[in-house]
Amino acid sequence: MGSEVPPVYIGLKGIYVAKTSLSYIDGERGKLIYRGYSIEDLAEHSTFEEITYLLWFGKLPNKRELSEFKENLASEREIPDEVISIISKLPRNAHPMDILKTGVASLGPFDPDLPSIWGQHIHEKRAENLKIAMRILSKMPTIMAYFYRMKENKDIVHPRKDLNHAANFLYMMWGREPNDLEAKLMDVALILHADHGFNASTFACLVTASTLSDLYSAIVSGISALKGPLHGGANEQALRMLMEIGSPDNAREYVKGKLERKERIMGFGHRVYKAYDPRARILKKYAEMLAKETKQEKLFNTALEVEKVMIELLGRKGIFPNVDFYSGQVYHMLGIPTEIFTPIFAISRASGWIGHVLEYWEQNVLIRPRALYIGPMEAKYIPIENRI
Ligand code: CMC
Repeated sequence: MGSEVPPVYIGLKGIYVAKTSLSYIDGERGKLIYRGYSIEDLAEHSTFEEITYLLWFGKLPNKRELSEFKENLASEREIPDEVISIISKLPRNAHPMDILKTGVASLGPFDPDLPSIWGQHIHEKRAENLKIAMRILSKMPTIMAYFYRMKENKDIVHPRKDLNHAANFLYMMWGREPNDLEAKLMDVALILHADHGFNASTFACLVTASTLSDLYSAIVSGISALKGPLHGGANEQALRMLMEIGSPDNAREYVKGKLERKERIMGFGHRVYKAYDPRARILKKYAEMLAKETKQEKLFNTALEVEKVMIELLGRKGIFPNVDFYSGQVYHMLGIPTEIFTPIFAISRASGWIGHVLEYWEQNVLIRPRALYIGPMEAKYIPIENRI
């Protein structure tokens, strides 16, 4: 090693590693756009299918394109019997993110197109990769809903082609069609989580894809990275925390105690946002509405008090609620079990993961950084019998 020590970017904080046209975060002003469209506009007027088309094809679809895209997606929802059998054999108390990961990994070997494109030109086969992308995106909600029904000792509910992505997921989970508000809220949640620049899970997908591995393997990497509580797992933790706090009166003492013990308050802070996360702002509005409708004002008011205390104590450091703080409340008030929150994040983010992989593959470069070696240089090997 030379005498000059190269800079080390621990956690890649603030480092740009690629170019993208998919999404942009203005962390200082709390803005998020997908290909130029504001997240507020998309959440209000768009659908998950439409924004997925936008992320994968670079433009909003016209009526014909959207209807064809929706039809193709809807026709891919069922999963092979062998994968159902694999899911049915997994422990019921396993974390659903591990089920999702295993389910997606199991789909790969059954994909009819994968063997023919496998090899060093895989990234150039856009048409085939798009077919695979449709299958992954369509089948992820089915894997999750089937496992949930099995866990509840209920019969699985097969997907319907006439419902959109969000409504069909709820239908397969609940065994009843969601009403318009439930379907709209799930659709909005899917839109808000679909993409977010080079977050940890997207980067994990790209690391795998950059070796010219396949889309299934890339998505399994993404699911694995999203599971952690510093990333997607925070929504589940945030809701559990609010339940533990129990009432607005306990919020201040609880938050202060945690901060004094140097513990994190889940659902707050972000690597890029140093202002209020715009996705949290949108979900907060829906959480308030749902709290009134489902008579769960205590939960919402507890969240408001936690937010107030956190901003008072840490707002000056740029720590505000992130998407996970309010998404968990919305899901809970919709009647979705807590352990399914992070899988919903994955079901949505798969849209962005795939969009980024397809974009990155257009000019693929193997991702292979260096680590600065700080260990000894000339250790003498000691045979095992001589070691103490
Ligand atoms: N509660 C308490 N203190 C916090 C929090 C928090 N949630 N977030 C950051 N801090 C403090 C941290 O202790 C540190 O303080 P100090 O400078 O005194 O050591 C400072 O803020 C900077 O924190 P950091 O971990 O160096 O900053 P980061 O950019 O690496 O952190 C983060 C980003 C998301 C890991 C962090 O904010 C966090 O752990 N938040 C809680 C988990 C969470 O809600 N994650 C979901 C993120 S949004 C959804 C997604 O995209 O995945």
